[in-house]
Amino acid sequence: MALQQVDIDFFNRGKVENPRYWGRFGGKPDFKNALVVDLGCGLGSLCIDIASSGARRVTGLDVNPYLIDFANENLKINYPQLVHTVEFRCEDLRETPEADIDYFVSKDTFEHVLELEQVLAEMKKRLKVGGHLYAGFGPLWNSPFGDHGRTKILLPWGHILFPERFLINWHNRLDTTKAASIHDLELNALPLAEYLRIFRSSGMTIVSLQVNASTRPVSRLFSLLRRTPSLAEYFSHNVYCILRKGGKQ
Ligand SMILES: C[S@@+](CC[C@H](N)C(=O)[O-])C[C@H]1O[C@@H](n2cnc3c(N)ncnc32)[C@H](O)[C@@H]1O
Repeated sequence: MALQQVDIDFFNRGKVENPRYWGRFGGKPDFKNALVVDLGCGLGSLCIDIASSGARRVTGLDVNPYLIDFANENLKINYPQLVHTVEFRCEDLRETPEADIDYFVSKDTFEHVLELEQVLAEMKKRLKVGGHLYAGFGPLWNSPFGDHGRTKILLPWGHILFPERFLINWHNRLDTTKAASIHDLELNALPLAEYLRIFRSSGMTIVSLQVNASTRPVSRLFSLLRRTPSLAEYFSHNVYCILRKGGKQ
């Protein structure tokens, strides 16, 4: 597979995005000698970042075979020193052989995972006791552009103003791909309240949970507005959460 420039450019955005991602958790964990799995690794930038920080083994999982092909080829060509540390696989987490994992990480993926509750249960099963999950994701469905532009409505909150049938017809008229539901647009459309319920009932300890983790002025404004309970869903754009297997709830 020849690497496409558009993908290389997207991969390189990690140089800016990855430090920002770790900063929103309060810093990058110490990955020295750690066994790490990245769920929804995409083109693999975060995996390379983690392996370069001294992890023993990093596995990037994604359900999109094109992204995994790019990630493996890019690894071979541009990061040959990491080929024995990093592996990218197009695989369902339920089939993953890895166990006693030190860290699960997941960047901008949980809003796409359709069976998040089951996925968290699978993660818990595979984490070692004391192991952590770092999940940072958004934009959330009820935020202004929570449809990631996929419905093609292009109006802030437009995707929650209109019924699903209308959104899908609109999308199908303007896009070459055809969908039958919001799930077909690879969005779980979960409200913030549901993520919080899923995390609280995961059987893991919530070490930290931040909503609207960003220093951008608009995010600070959102954080002020979300203090009003009736506005909280609509002015919450991302979640950065650390969970640990074991310890007090
Ligand atoms: C917005 S992309 C983020 C990719 C990468 N983490 C990044 O930050 O650039 C979300 C990714 O999650 C993947 N994905 C969605 N559901 C998944 C699942 N159940 N298991 C693994 N990957 C999944 C998609 O294929 C997609 O590559």
